[in-house]
Amino acid sequence: MLGQTGLRPGQRALDVAGGTGDIAIRCAKAIQRKVPPQSRLREAQSSRGQITVCDINPAMLRVGKNKAIDQGWLNEIDWVAGNAEKMPVKSESVDLACIVFGLRNVTHIDNALAEFFRVLKPGGRFYCMEFSPSVAKPLKKLYDLYSFSVLPWLGEKVANDRDSYQYLAESIRQFPAPDALKTRMEKVGFEQVHIERLMGGIAVIHSGWKI
Ligand SMILES: C[S@@+](CC[C@H](N)C(=O)[O-])C[C@H]1O[C@@H](n2cnc3c(N)ncnc32)[C@H](O)[C@@H]1O
Repeated sequence: MLGQTGLRPGQRALDVAGGTGDIAIRCAKAIQRKVPPQSRLREAQSSRGQITVCDINPAMLRVGKNKAIDQGWLNEIDWVAGNAEKMPVKSESVDLACIVFGLRNVTHIDNALAEFFRVLKPGGRFYCMEFSPSVAKPLKKLYDLYSFSVLPWLGEKVANDRDSYQYLAESIRQFPAPDALKTRMEKVGFEQVHIERLMGGIAVIHSGWKI
């Protein structure tokens, strides 16, 4: 997904429901300039670009921040606690905004979509990657069996947490189908909304422009 974004040095990215920062760290790599000669260090630092991770759970952010620092990303990433439905982010301030395996957990999806539209600069792009209920027919039986039998069983054995994995399977079935989510993105103002189905539709990337 990040390969498609065209994220460049100097740009600002926002990863909402960013959890422990896996996407943000990949963004940081994308917008990092090569280390310049010492004399131009300050100028280069200011044009490096910046990533903000926003997540409702401060404990996730803490883990992410420690991991990023361990990997050498000290200044490039800001960690902000906040709800996707009311982002503590300035309007028209980011070039790229994304939410990865997060929108399914948001109570009022349309509020979050409107917030993504608000914080993007004109010309900015929004990406959502999420599990989808619209799985290709030949896969569906096997996928349902895996989701409702194998996955909760594995959750219980490996993480001692059957309920979370049962919730995962159920919440995927409640999430809007790709065309419905596209319509909802268009309603808040996104244009040229594109749908890309991955792995027979198990996951889907939606993208749209604020023009
Ligand atoms: C499955 S994790 C995904 C984390 C990350 N995007 C990734 O792909 O590794 C879902 C995240 O959504 C966050 N979350 C749930 N509801 C949220 C909301 N309303 N606003 C912001 N974050 C939320 C959770 O705290 C959790 O960190």
